Amino acid sequence: MIRSGEYIRDLFQRPVGESVTARGWVKTRRDSKGIHFVQLNDGSCFQDLQVVIEAGVIPDDTLTAITTGACIAVAGELVESPASGQAVELKASSITIYGMSDPATYPLQKKGHTMEFLREKAHLRPRSNTFGAVFRVRNALSYAIHTFFQERGFLYVHTPVITASDCEGAGAMFGVTTLDMMNLPRTEEGAIDYGQDFFGKPAYLTVSGQLEGEIFALAFSNIYTFGPTFRAENSNTPRHLAEFWMIEPEMAFCDLDDNRALAEEFLKYIIQYVLDRCAPDLEFFNKRIDNTVLQTLEHVASAPFEHITYTDAISILKDSGRNWEFPVYWGADLQSEHERYLTEEKFQRPVVVTDYPKQIKAFYMRDNDDGRTVRAMDVLAPRIGEIIGGSQREERYDVLLEKIRAQRLPEEAYWWYLELRKYGSAPHSGFGLGLERMLMYLTGMKNIRDVIPFPRTPGSAEF
Ligand code: 4AD
Ligand code: MG
Repeated sequence: MIRSGEYIRDLFQRPVGESVTARGWVKTRRDSKGIHFVQLNDGSCFQDLQVVIEAGVIPDDTLTAITTGACIAVAGELVESPASGQAVELKASSITIYGMSDPATYPLQKKGHTMEFLREKAHLRPRSNTFGAVFRVRNALSYAIHTFFQERGFLYVHTPVITASDCEGAGAMFGVTTLDMMNLPRTEEGAIDYGQDFFGKPAYLTVSGQLEGEIFALAFSNIYTFGPTFRAENSNTPRHLAEFWMIEPEMAFCDLDDNRALAEEFLKYIIQYVLDRCAPDLEFFNKRIDNTVLQTLEHVASAPFEHITYTDAISILKDSGRNWEFPVYWGADLQSEHERYLTEEKFQRPVVVTDYPKQIKAFYMRDNDDGRTVRAMDVLAPRIGEIIGGSQREERYDVLLEKIRAQRLPEEAYWWYLELRKYGSAPHSGFGLGLERMLMYLTGMKNIRDVIPFPRTPGSAEF
């Protein structure tokens, strides 16, 4: 087992002359004048460890097994490296082969592969430079998120993955059943008899932990969820997954302005955290994936976000003189082209849009006094569009009941949600950040399938 202090990233910090063992996977091997150079990586950092094997030190059969993709252990001495960009290299004295790798068939060759190709090799792509960097940033980002909320006294709550209620009221849910599809039990009216199903009623994979999060906010004041969520919308776009990870803070005694301020503070904190801890990975993205990434992140971490209302947004879009593919009128939902215009051209920074028309937003958002808008907020980011969606929640029992009815949602399913408004209700707000959208922003990766280890999209659930 590799112990802390023995990862390749730690070996780079050790003094010259020390005897160490490095374990990892061979990226490349090069032979020159009887000396062999092996680039070894164990995933702990972007930089490979250069292993130098001098002539005659290692038996020939071991040497032939050191090919791209093989897993090996190298014992030897750290020596000063003449190569630029690394202080030390490892002069091998003995090598153990754990797992060979046939160079004729190993899919990750030195030449660059397309993202599409690598997606089909999701069992091996974590060993590539790009995906090594992506998943180290994903790890750091996850830790940053917990750190942010824990430092502020938020309670981490595990909301259920299987649920009987539809949080967004949008119906894009995956069913969960143990009924025999070939032989479905029927009621007298001929409908499927879910009374005989596992839970005794229809059940789904959750689209959001928010409703249960609200229960906890009305007991622990400030909470957050961080878990997988599922959407069965058939949208085959570079920004949508059927399974993605969402972070949902929920705060009691918090209005939309507080909510917006927290979202901005949160985004800036996690960006700065990743900038501070993942510099080599981000430099790689900046060099190879998108050469604006670093500049954008540094700018976003320091400059204030823009805030406009939905009504302002519609006027700005109307006055832009653009020919929109999706027509712009008060009441229309903002499309990707509109979001991109606002963030990339008009304001050139993240933009928070608030107070949307009630017809295009979820039932739980608090009504404004104007009777036609709700206390919603979306945070839009350049390149990505919507990265956060949130709102102040409707805390008034009668108004909420009316909204559930107006949207023709099954009142019975929301009995406990309504009851929260009967016993100790309080003004409260929250938002949801899509982890993968955030990662796209941090890395410059263009397709959301390439920032999650094993993407689930329409027609695709390999691995
Ligand atoms: O705007 P959404 O649907 O909001 C909610 O689910 C609320 N319950 C959140 C809350 O107030 N607690 O989703 C929130 C975020 C989006 O802004 C986006 O970043 C991400 O989740 N998201 C997706 N990411 C990847 N694939 C999808 N299909 C996504 N749908 C939403
Ligand atoms: Mg949304």
